[in-house]
Amino acid sequence: MNDSDLRVLLDDMTLEEKIGQLLQVNSSFYNAGGLLTGPQQNEQFSRRQLELAGSLLGTVGAEHLIRFQDSYMETQPHRIPMLFMADIINGYKTVFPIPLAQGATFNPELAGACAAVAARESAAAGIHVTFSPMADLVRDARWGRVMESTGEDVYLNSCFSSAVVRGYQGGDVSEKGRVAACVKHFAAYGAPLAGREYNQAEISERTLMEEYLPSFRAAIEAGVKLVMTSFQTLGRIPCTGNRKLMRDTLRAEMNFRGVLISDWKAVDELIAHGVAADGREAAKLAIEAGVDIDMMADVYVNELAGLIDSGEVSRGLLDEAVLRVLSLKNDLGLFEHPYKDADPEAERRLMLCKEHRRAAHEAAIQSFVLLKNEGGNLPLLKSERTAFLGPYINDQNIVGSWTIFADENPCVSIREGVSRIVPEPSAVFLEGCSLLDKETRFAGFRGLADGKSQPDFSAREDEALKLAAGADKVVLCLGEHRQHSGEGGARGEITLPQVQTDFLKKTAAVNPNITAVIFCGRPLDLRNVVPYAKSILVAWFPGSEGGSAIADVLYGEACPSGKLPMSFPHSVGQVPVYYSDFTTGRPYCGQPDFRFASKYLDIPNEPLYPFGFGLSYGAFAYSGLSLDCDILTKEGTVNVTVTVSNTGVWGGYETVQLYLRDIAASVARPVRELKGFRKIWLEPGASAQVTFAITEEMLRFYDINMSYTSEAGSFVAYVGGDSTAADSVAFSLI
Ligand code: BGC
Repeated sequence: MNDSDLRVLLDDMTLEEKIGQLLQVNSSFYNAGGLLTGPQQNEQFSRRQLELAGSLLGTVGAEHLIRFQDSYMETQPHRIPMLFMADIINGYKTVFPIPLAQGATFNPELAGACAAVAARESAAAGIHVTFSPMADLVRDARWGRVMESTGEDVYLNSCFSSAVVRGYQGGDVSEKGRVAACVKHFAAYGAPLAGREYNQAEISERTLMEEYLPSFRAAIEAGVKLVMTSFQTLGRIPCTGNRKLMRDTLRAEMNFRGVLISDWKAVDELIAHGVAADGREAAKLAIEAGVDIDMMADVYVNELAGLIDSGEVSRGLLDEAVLRVLSLKNDLGLFEHPYKDADPEAERRLMLCKEHRRAAHEAAIQSFVLLKNEGGNLPLLKSERTAFLGPYINDQNIVGSWTIFADENPCVSIREGVSRIVPEPSAVFLEGCSLLDKETRFAGFRGLADGKSQPDFSAREDEALKLAAGADKVVLCLGEHRQHSGEGGARGEITLPQVQTDFLKKTAAVNPNITAVIFCGRPLDLRNVVPYAKSILVAWFPGSEGGSAIADVLYGEACPSGKLPMSFPHSVGQVPVYYSDFTTGRPYCGQPDFRFASKYLDIPNEPLYPFGFGLSYGAFAYSGLSLDCDILTKEGTVNVTVTVSNTGVWGGYETVQLYLRDIAASVARPVRELKGFRKIWLEPGASAQVTFAITEEMLRFYDINMSYTSEAGSFVAYVGGDSTAADSVAFSLI
């Protein structure tokens, strides 16, 4: 359909039909067969409201959705098809590493390729829209949803959000195997005070514009079709009812033309926030803010008609929202092909196929971060006898907490992965330690998980320690439970469960050659691990091919290359801790006896492991950092070049990082900011020159008058393998 056909359709729709387009519900309101036979669950919606609901959330499966679409369209006065949306986050059936781990690859193209696989699989299963990527900037490791982001850096997040949007959508969302992306959560959901879920965000307008919005801008520039509002308040105004944020910033200033959907019941939650007295006020606030779809609440469907009748909300406002929903359906090609790519045969063929598994394997390998490797403890030799211990050796539930459609069994466990490379008895396996402390309690997405419902491996602890004592090396597979992170997964302590650190200490007492493989959905406080492990490999939640990828890296079939996308704090007391901090007027310059500097009395300022850090089996040396010119003009370019050499005996990837610092400006500027990175492969003994072109655009910021501009003056460029890179060159902008 073209735009005027859509207008004609809109003009012909009844008020009830139009409002229906703005309702999204999940399948719990329909019967088990997915057929539209009336409300099954409660009285929240009338049968007619459900019949007219414009979109469905969280239901998958080609056969099911084809049937659903058929029965739905039969009842539609204008045969408008339904939109099927779901949270396809780090994969559908083939599961990739969690987004934070994808950030660690420093390889946005790879993340884009993972998104393309997820799109292909979920489109075949009937999905039209995925609620991904989550582009929220995250700096507080206590917050559970840091797992869903690509980390603490503005530039890195932007590179990932645009690559992932392109991966899902391709050039044209109506094409086969494509789904529309929904970037979320607008805005500043990643800045909850004290890391507590749903808590308020209190950040300055400058911080919002300069740090929290660029990843959304990048997604919009990549053509993202939907934006989701965030739950929390920003500057005391709930985002879902924030007209200035949504209309002035998102739509007018950032030029977003697609569909704005609320988060789950967020329109209704305007009442709990205390900015709306009732549903009627909530509906008015949200529609005026420009929220098009009300997810899972009955506010629009119950209140909009009354508001329009009374003239409190104009028909124009409603039509605008409905037209955006119809346009999305049209862009997806649903008017011509209401099932889009739903195809039971393709669904069977594509899910977890070899090619998709290969992509998951590569992504997992590139996401692992080697934090420590004393004395070349890794890689393991096949001739050595290695004891694999700890709660994660056999666990196949290594997909993270947001893979609601994936099956656990197709995941390769560590034991399976290792057994493909070395047979027993070179590798022996026994858990010997439980995953959770007994008193742990948390409600999960899929039922309750707690210390009591988990398998108790502690009875065989002595046997495990004997295996450790008799082995050349020990690999301890430790970590958080998947439900320790994700939505509702905020933690006040960010250490490993006590039972695991106790086991680590006991193991270290009988064999010091320990590698700790850590599964986690956030940066952890690893002070209880570092002294007892010669090597530490952060595996995050690695997905379907996790075990095989870990085994390949442990045995040197592949070289670790991940870099931290978020600083690993020294302790929770530093949080939020991130590299692009400010000096303060009294910077701490390493004099512990001077009291009045910006520092703590009891902990260091620096994180345990900084942003951008990650070791390799190769050894990379940086030399010859130079500029081709030290004066940058507004139209010109300054090229900064460095030579990187692999001085080790292993070929591997190195991520060369460029950071810039603005020495003096009209407002305080970060101590450094990532402005470029290049992931290069170097064979042993090989060198490569890497050049970054610095332009004036890279020096822009919100100045004292809130204009986005650059200011003439002195700058420093740092280049190296992490955010503490010391090699620098200076230049001026004129
Ligand atoms: C989450 C969103 C998600 C939505 C739909 C909410 O609880 O905050 O990220 O997309 O549910 O499942």
